[in-house]
Amino acid sequence: METKIVKINPESIDEKCLEEAGQIIREGGLVAFPTETVYGLGANALDAQAAARIYKAKGRPSDNPLIAHISSVDMLDDIVANIDDNARKLMDAFWPGPMTLIFKKKDIVPDGTTGGLDTVAVRFPSNKIARMLIEKSGVPIAAPSANISGRPSPTTGDHVVEDMNGIIDMIIDGGHVGVGLESTIIDLTGTPTILRPGFVTRKMIEQVIDHVEVDGGILEKPSEDFRPKAPGMKYKHYAPKADLTMVKGQAENVAEYIEQAVKGQNAGIITIDTHMDLYKNVSDDIKIVSLGNSIEEVAGNLFGTLRQFDEWGVDVIYSEVFEEKDLGVAVMNRLNKAAGYKLVNV
Ligand code: TXA
Ligand code: MG
Repeated sequence: METKIVKINPESIDEKCLEEAGQIIREGGLVAFPTETVYGLGANALDAQAAARIYKAKGRPSDNPLIAHISSVDMLDDIVANIDDNARKLMDAFWPGPMTLIFKKKDIVPDGTTGGLDTVAVRFPSNKIARMLIEKSGVPIAAPSANISGRPSPTTGDHVVEDMNGIIDMIIDGGHVGVGLESTIIDLTGTPTILRPGFVTRKMIEQVIDHVEVDGGILEKPSEDFRPKAPGMKYKHYAPKADLTMVKGQAENVAEYIEQAVKGQNAGIITIDTHMDLYKNVSDDIKIVSLGNSIEEVAGNLFGTLRQFDEWGVDVIYSEVFEEKDLGVAVMNRLNKAAGYKLVNV
């Protein structure tokens, strides 16, 4: 299949182009598009056959449900059975934005979109291109991250081209996304529970509703029989081809350990700006990447860096760890999964 690749400047959006993309969606095709979190691979959420094409393109297990993206709260009424007080409060506080809510679904949403569940995950993205695409489509858009299943989620149009060129109808390249990690998922069908951490943190949520639980396995390796409430959380994810190890401890000790570990290897190192100077004794052929300084920068650069290491073809990667608070919880959730929870304490 020939994939049409179009670049759209978020500052002056080409509406014609989005009309064409909207038509592809209405006709059952696949369009990848930017959101504020990561790129999504979109299809009509109300069309089971279109949803099936997403699973095929990604190589995604069919029990892993899709998020329906909407461009107005009115669209929510069409697809969910009941919107309670907690939902209203969270929607007022964080929509449009990087938060996904799980509701009981209406029959109009096919099982093919929800992996057979009687619930549906819904997100109202803030990215202007995403919103306009949903408006032009006139239907909610089911969209998982636009990567081949298991690979790091795409944060640039180039990443999507790498994974999806020749497989889908259209790729809309809107440049680098803002957040860089997928949305926070909150289940509202029972006690409010975070199923996946993201940019909207537990603290932010508890400023709006009284209490939110956290589903297990977010920062520690889940036991064999653990069944996460978000089916997708059980799969190995975000993994670079290289063997990734996290190293935790005082910065100087971590750097010293990593310097020893990479000797004689085709290796990469993940650090931050202020620690770059600690790696004085590594040979020139070792790739050292800084993710920036703030935790926001780290979140924005993590997935792209894992992909970059794949391109360089390194065999092993050592990464520093980040404080597990606020956005750091989401960063460490993704890094843990990418590393298969492999951690060295020094
Ligand atoms: O930021 C995001 O959420 C991005 C952008 C494109 O919007 N999308 C995204 O989709 O990350 P995906 O498919 O990569 O991850 C969706 C997660 C999966 O872990 C899935 O199991 C869970 O949401 N999920 C979807 N519907 C669910 C439901 N009804 N109940 C529980 N978990 C659900
Ligand atoms: Mg994904």
